[in-house]
Amino acid sequence: MKASQFLISTLKEAPADAEVVSHRLMMRAGMIKKLGAGIYTYMPLGLRVIRKVEAIVREEMNRAGAIECTMPVIQPAELWEETGRFAKMGPELLRIKDRHDRDFVVQPTSEEVITDIARQELRSYKQLPKNLYQIQTKFRDERRPRFGLMRGREFIMKDAYSFDRDPAAAQASYQGMAQAYRRIFDRFGLRYRAVAADSGAIGGDLSEEFQVIAATGEDAIVYCPDSDYAANIEKAEALAPAGPRPAARHALARTPTPGKSTCADVAALLSVPLQSTVKSLVLATDQTNEAGEVVKSQVWLLLVRGDHDMNEVKVGKVPGLDAGFRFATVPEILEHFGTRPGYLGPIGLKKPVKVVADREVAVMADWICGGNEEDVHLTGVNWGRDLPEPDAVADIRNVVEGDPSPDGRGRLAIERGIEVGHVFYLGTKYSRAMNATFLDETGKPRLMEMGCYGIGITRLPAAAIEQNHDDRGIIWPDALAPFTVAVCPIGMDRSEAVREAAQRLHDGLLALGVDVILDDRGERPGVMFADWELIGVPHRVVISDRGLKEGQLEYQHRRDSEATRVPAEGVLQFLKDRLGT
Ligand SMILES: Nc1ncnc2c1ncn2[C@@H]1O[C@H](COP(=O)(O)OP(=O)(O)O)[C@@H](O)[C@H]1O
Ligand SMILES: [Mg+2]
Repeated sequence: MKASQFLISTLKEAPADAEVVSHRLMMRAGMIKKLGAGIYTYMPLGLRVIRKVEAIVREEMNRAGAIECTMPVIQPAELWEETGRFAKMGPELLRIKDRHDRDFVVQPTSEEVITDIARQELRSYKQLPKNLYQIQTKFRDERRPRFGLMRGREFIMKDAYSFDRDPAAAQASYQGMAQAYRRIFDRFGLRYRAVAADSGAIGGDLSEEFQVIAATGEDAIVYCPDSDYAANIEKAEALAPAGPRPAARHALARTPTPGKSTCADVAALLSVPLQSTVKSLVLATDQTNEAGEVVKSQVWLLLVRGDHDMNEVKVGKVPGLDAGFRFATVPEILEHFGTRPGYLGPIGLKKPVKVVADREVAVMADWICGGNEEDVHLTGVNWGRDLPEPDAVADIRNVVEGDPSPDGRGRLAIERGIEVGHVFYLGTKYSRAMNATFLDETGKPRLMEMGCYGIGITRLPAAAIEQNHDDRGIIWPDALAPFTVAVCPIGMDRSEAVREAAQRLHDGLLALGVDVILDDRGERPGVMFADWELIGVPHRVVISDRGLKEGQLEYQHRRDSEATRVPAEGVLQFLKDRLGT
């Protein structure tokens, strides 16, 4: 490829709305162009990267036995009504009408359509297992589209769906996909972690996210440096403290804390560690009748240690809160606690509430909490003596760095990641809703066991950049680079020798199947180098008259601080070695 024939449109400045480095660099390198909020054109340079991602994904999916198909982007609502998702999904699901006033959706994912195909085409146990996938445009009307391709509204996803005869076979399919994902992410050349994720109602560990490690990642991922334990923050379990609850040493006391409504302020005021304070969170659950009207509400008080944070996914698993909960309203709080948020606690309630203590709080003695009175806290609080034992004790907090690993093999560490893939065992959730059955050996209809497996094709380049960049631009791993080698001739218009050497190297690399770009634009060296550094081409060869006179070219990897001189006649072999081709 010659740069003069390609479309290169680099920018000095990133647009103001580009907050993260991958968005800024993709805009500046001319890889994407914004058309609307969360909607981008993949420009030629960006598309080359996306095509490389797709090719690796496609190869490994095929190798793993999955079969490619393409489902429509626009899908009739009827199928989505069968699973209830047409009504249940929020505004993320883009609903549209055609000229006949019929409802359609723009696919955010495709469980309904694929299950409809499976129930028609997979009739016998002899046809199972099957795994069908597509690499297709998705649309999710995200509340906050941002960070360019990282969280777009329109994006490309690889979505695969497995169909099996029983849970054991489905779990084997799941493991096969998890393994294919490892191959895929290894090939991308990125640092990543497969982490256990919450699998909702199904339970078990059969949901993993593939997270590209990056300091700027949106997700907190938890791992144990001494074992292979890794989970996302929703899933990582905080173990119950090992020791028993210490004996009470202090008397219960009412302590004025004027204006100090946070645990941190109270701890500072009383000169005690934050770990001796307890935070109160008030939730509510509603009972509804058949018409959907609320007939009864229950108020809950959740207690976590002052230095800990509540984890909503874990709270959603506490019996009684597992059918859905909400934050209590201020009137509800006043009615039960007699005071406003800031000074709430479990002692001296106006009306009873259900108390759920985090595992850590359940073994605390002499703790501090709100006194249910403005500007007042209670100190020396002890379970059993000053208040009844909690109604429930559960793991309802986020783990923190240094917590013991749930596998008992060390302490937890936390780093940040970007979710680029997700494998998920679905069970019969969709096959049951859509009656997707097959006939087993005895001729009996049985529900298919399903799994779904996504990869964010267009999010991946953004994640790769978050992980691999410097102040000059992107640094692509070879596997994802839009061009692997940039040939940069200096003074090509003046020197026949330079022109010829550049052309020969370009042709030689092409013949080897290397993605090479020859910069024949006639730009000054500074401009030329800055462009390829911004674009992130990993290998660069500079050809100059002066060098050629000594029979030398200059090679520089995007991560090298200096160029290496390479004999002109040996340059192809040198590059072959460097590229491993
Ligand atoms: N708005 C988005 N923009 C870009 N990629 C996305 C977006 N939403 C999801 N993806 C990608 O698609 C993959 C599969 O999606 P899924 O797990 O269903 O999404 P989520 O985790 O947001 O529920 C995700 O791992 C992610 O890489
Ligand atoms: Mg996901």
